[in-house]
Amino acid sequence: MSQPTIESILHEERLFEPSAEFSQAARVKSLDEYKQLYEKAKANPEAFWAELAEKELHWFQKWDTVLDWQPPFAKWFVNGKTNISYNCLDRHLTTWRKNKAALIWEGEPGDSRTLTYAQLHREVCQFANALKSLGVQKGDRVGIYMPMIPEAAIAMLACARIGAAHSVVFGGFSAEALRDRLVDAEAKAVITADGGWRKDAIVPLKDQVDKALADNSAPSVQKVLVVKRTGQEVAMQAERDVWWHELQPKMSADCPAEPMDSEDLLFILYTSGSTGKPKGVVHTTAGYNLYTHITTQWIFDLQDTDVYWCTADVGWITGHSYIVYGPLSNGATTLMYEGAPRASNPGCFWDVIEKYGVTVFYTAPTAIRAFIKMGDEHPNSRNLSSLRLLGTVGEPINPEAWMWYHTVIGGERCPIVDTWWQTETGGIMITALPGAIATKPGSATLPFPGILADVVDLDGNTVGNNEGGYLAVRYPWPGMMRTVYGDPDRFRRTYWEHIPPVDGKYIYFAGDGARCDEDGYFWVMGRVDDVINVAGHRLGTMEIESALVSHPAVAEAAVVGKPDEVKGQDIVAFVTLEGSQTPSEALAKELKQHVVSEIGAIARPGEIRFADALPKTRSGKIMRRLLRSLASGEEVSGDTSTLEDRSVLEKLREGS
Ligand code: PRX
Repeated sequence: MSQPTIESILHEERLFEPSAEFSQAARVKSLDEYKQLYEKAKANPEAFWAELAEKELHWFQKWDTVLDWQPPFAKWFVNGKTNISYNCLDRHLTTWRKNKAALIWEGEPGDSRTLTYAQLHREVCQFANALKSLGVQKGDRVGIYMPMIPEAAIAMLACARIGAAHSVVFGGFSAEALRDRLVDAEAKAVITADGGWRKDAIVPLKDQVDKALADNSAPSVQKVLVVKRTGQEVAMQAERDVWWHELQPKMSADCPAEPMDSEDLLFILYTSGSTGKPKGVVHTTAGYNLYTHITTQWIFDLQDTDVYWCTADVGWITGHSYIVYGPLSNGATTLMYEGAPRASNPGCFWDVIEKYGVTVFYTAPTAIRAFIKMGDEHPNSRNLSSLRLLGTVGEPINPEAWMWYHTVIGGERCPIVDTWWQTETGGIMITALPGAIATKPGSATLPFPGILADVVDLDGNTVGNNEGGYLAVRYPWPGMMRTVYGDPDRFRRTYWEHIPPVDGKYIYFAGDGARCDEDGYFWVMGRVDDVINVAGHRLGTMEIESALVSHPAVAEAAVVGKPDEVKGQDIVAFVTLEGSQTPSEALAKELKQHVVSEIGAIARPGEIRFADALPKTRSGKIMRRLLRSLASGEEVSGDTSTLEDRSVLEKLREGS
């Protein structure tokens, strides 16, 4: 693990206050109000969350204990009964919101669709009945491998409605990666589409599903539901495969939401860790619902007139929490866009904002940096005056990108919420509440009320102001992951024992380096483990290494990140070859493609560097620190005395 260094930390003096007009109308209106909320939550977290749960959610049956904490396993709202699909849909139907736009969808080829709450409810109920008719029951798991179309959200809500857990797999993952996830989750059914658009090309999703299921390699899967989206021919397997449009419309729209126990499994979402196999992050019903609900409301300051747009894909946690569940639970209008920023359509995001009068916009630093490169003329030639609040997520934002976002997109009037969180945390943990907290470019600012975030050393001691340390959380919160699916030991080891409990108190280890400044503002510096963040996508270096060594030409591989202007980090793979193999451009290309087919295009190495040997310690551990320096073109500094064979380093240097 690398120790965060103070040299890598930036010192930023600029402070941006929200306008008086923004603060006056905001959900949380001042720093004082934030501090009061924070202190109240800190003094009695259970009471704080219970009060919100009572006020903000519908319950079929009230809980009897707010928190049952048997570290590191938490149960929230014990014995309560609720349903997130009910909270996102049914409860709005008895209000004026019945005919309010719930979901606005903009398709990649220019088609579009708007679903009111009543319409979305109907679609979800019909699809929930379709799932039931295929034998999907409460407690089953369902894989979702879809493009960014309304059916993806409908499928998620339908699963939640009948108590089946979903496991959404990002449509950019390969058939292999999909199969691993379906097998681990023992999914009974898969919901997919014939294809999906991704940057001007069609991704053949159904073909990938067929590959993933070939030779009975995911034997739990009994049914495949297919949305017709791109229209190309696909092979439908009798008995197993069913067209969505043939089944769903025939179904009754009467499907009462199943009362779910607070701790019933809501979804599994796989994410990368330090070791090879992705982890199935488990989120349960009530705590996740409450946490995403209240963070959406306060952080995005949602008002009934807002058109809220989060540009993530539903395949990631951001799409789960802040496209689907958080906004709909609040009765907001959430926008979903099928396209992605690309050079062939440099105005695409700004066109969508103008077309729908988007007011709250939430995207990733990588997208911002890509748009900076494409030129200011694109946003400048669109009317972006509807925007009132901006957000970023997924990776540290550099101050230059922050300033561009603030000036060119926000017209200097929109607060920016830089939101730090993770798949594991369920919802946003550190961020500005936009009407209350002044922002500094590059800082996620302050923890959300109820979140006891801290920067600590490996013994769990709080480090001093402006000293680098590890980002940690000292108390459970309702949106936290409950376990790693099927592997509670891994959950304990990875997150709760990395820093040993202090006086019996467990500390959540996030895997990020950070510092706190003199105002208590958090500056997140990036991962301290073997996880890299490429264009906001989280990848384990070991996953990519395993993919590389599964190629017959490769003997050993070591993967590191190097800084990249747009993507934040890019992947560099150091590779040694089997005896008879010789390095070549063609082989490098082949290896890159091999990683794409093993994991997906998001994991394609930017660079393959062939080497005779990798730098190792005497005990055989690859010295990644040296490789990171080499990959970034930096001087290799620090201690190299543990290096077994110093000539390896010289050779690698010469080769660079
Ligand atoms: O390193 C942090 C980075 O993204 C990681 C979590 O990735 P994932 O689980 O895929 O979730 C991404 C969306 C929530 C974190 O450990 N990260 C996320 N947001 C920020 C960030 N780093 C700095 N600033 C952020 N705002």
